[in-house]
Amino acid sequence: MNIDQLRTQSLAAVAGCASSTALEEQRVALLGKKGRITEALKTLGQATPEERKTLGAQLNQLKSEISEAIDVKKTQLARAELDARLASETIDVTLPAAPVPQGKIHPVSYVMEEISSIFEQMGFHVADGPDIEDDYHNFDALNIPASHPARQMHDTFYLSRQSSVASRQQEKSDAGDWGLETNRYLLRTHTSPVQIRTMKGGKPPFRFIAPGNTYRCDYDLTHTPMFHQIEVCMIDKHVHMGHLKGCIHDFLKAFFELDEVPLRFRPSFFPFTEPSAEVDIGCKRSQGELKIGEGSDWLEVLGCGMVHPNVLKNCGMDPNEWQGFAFGMGVERLAMLKYGIPDLRTFFESDARWLRHYGFS
Ligand code: PHE
Repeated sequence: MNIDQLRTQSLAAVAGCASSTALEEQRVALLGKKGRITEALKTLGQATPEERKTLGAQLNQLKSEISEAIDVKKTQLARAELDARLASETIDVTLPAAPVPQGKIHPVSYVMEEISSIFEQMGFHVADGPDIEDDYHNFDALNIPASHPARQMHDTFYLSRQSSVASRQQEKSDAGDWGLETNRYLLRTHTSPVQIRTMKGGKPPFRFIAPGNTYRCDYDLTHTPMFHQIEVCMIDKHVHMGHLKGCIHDFLKAFFELDEVPLRFRPSFFPFTEPSAEVDIGCKRSQGELKIGEGSDWLEVLGCGMVHPNVLKNCGMDPNEWQGFAFGMGVERLAMLKYGIPDLRTFFESDARWLRHYGFS
């Protein structure tokens, strides 16, 4: 038996393996039960005692050389194979996990968007004002006399005056930003003060809407201390009640996605409009279900009127030259009617199950 030749061949075979599987096959072919080295060791039985001694030692030495070479090769191949996998299987860890559980848009946000886009198509732009208002913009300028019930404490959240110098200065600079008259501060009870701000800050004609938060000290099944309104206002030289009616009619048809909606204008009173009306929409109530646009029941949806001459004057306009209409509506109320949401208070409970059910994608 030529041990040297066996060594050279075996080690070359191990070195020539190109993969872990090939190496494993080679290991079996050399050291396995029927492997070349194993077979060679078996032949020792027929050898003479001296031969057995030297040959046995040489073969055992060769056996451990080969298994060492296999181990080294194994590590090399494993590393090379891992490198190859890492190079080919790239993962972009910045990609979002799929599928992404989606958040939902709150019905108030969604309906505000819906309403805004309808008025945008009619040529209205969006105007803005602060949630913290003063008596002047929320009441006086809107022709709401001091004796009006809306000014009594139980409706309006008034802000208490802060006494520290720092907070007074902060208050002053905030007031400056919004042009607040530094009389009494309150949380605006409606979006109508944005009429005053927009008309005082610009030149007629006007055509704007003002969506936003409003606050009233009230809490029951149909009232929450914070709610949302959208104010709509149009001032021009020849605007009359026909325009008001047409605008409301077109808007409600678009909002409720109906070809026709029965409307009823009921005479009403707002200090800042004259004449004033409340608008009811035709509906049918049966077995706890409400269907808009048919039936013989009526449901109030908004307040409206022709902007009062005093309001126009307060905003620097001559009522003989300029006139227009305004209306205001509750966003939650319209959302409840359109999407069948039964309880106003649930809008503000932050219940994720409610939002998953009534929210929008
Ligand atoms: N500001 C009124 C309210 O909150 C609604 C309204 C707006 C009425 C504009 C007439 C004109 O009830």
